[in-house]
Amino acid sequence: MEFFLDTANLDEIRRANAQGLMDGVTTNPTLLSHEGGDWRSQMEAICQEVDGPVSLEVVGESAEEMIREAEDLSAFGDNVVIKIPMTSEGLVATRTLYRKGVQTNVTLVFSPLQALMAAKAGATYVSPFVGRLDGIGHDGMELIRQIRTIFDNYDFPTKVLVASIRHPMHVLEAALIGADTATVPFKVLSELVKHPLTDKGLAQFNADWDKLNK
Ligand code: E4P
Repeated sequence: MEFFLDTANLDEIRRANAQGLMDGVTTNPTLLSHEGGDWRSQMEAICQEVDGPVSLEVVGESAEEMIREAEDLSAFGDNVVIKIPMTSEGLVATRTLYRKGVQTNVTLVFSPLQALMAAKAGATYVSPFVGRLDGIGHDGMELIRQIRTIFDNYDFPTKVLVASIRHPMHVLEAALIGADTATVPFKVLSELVKHPLTDKGLAQFNADWDKLNK
């Protein structure tokens, strides 16, 4: 299973990289706005720092605008994946980029049929948003199960990238379902490492070691 970091923060990227936990990064306009400064330099720095796919999102609404932006964003590195919203124009852009051999991540996916359309268009990744669905009383992980089944039924090569992850259970369920990738916020990634029994056991070992050395 691939782990992407859902962030535009370079410190978080460096830390996850040092732990060997990061196969790539996903950004979006909101995450970049949290960092402030010049978004172009930030995107370039992220692409240099990451040894793996980096999703950079277009903001244009027409396919023409998205394709133009994709050309611009691709210049930041060989590892750029163009993130495209799940709209009718977005599918045209996805198909055009697919024909040009450009990798895409179709984002803001909230239904299995949207995922199927994105796969038909030739998306490299689809990003279903589980946390936002849970937030309105739907079952986000059920969407992942349905997309996995559809892609397996027809051998679509499009990867299921679980997005909008809120807690470790989302990651566990994504792994059990067989999602290809999870894009995880740094806070959740840190929680995956922790266990209260690890902390308790370590405190005991340290206390006993101190006793031995008095
Ligand atoms: C990832 O590619 C998405 O942009 C991200 O997971 C969105 O998550 P959010 O619901 O926390 O904004």
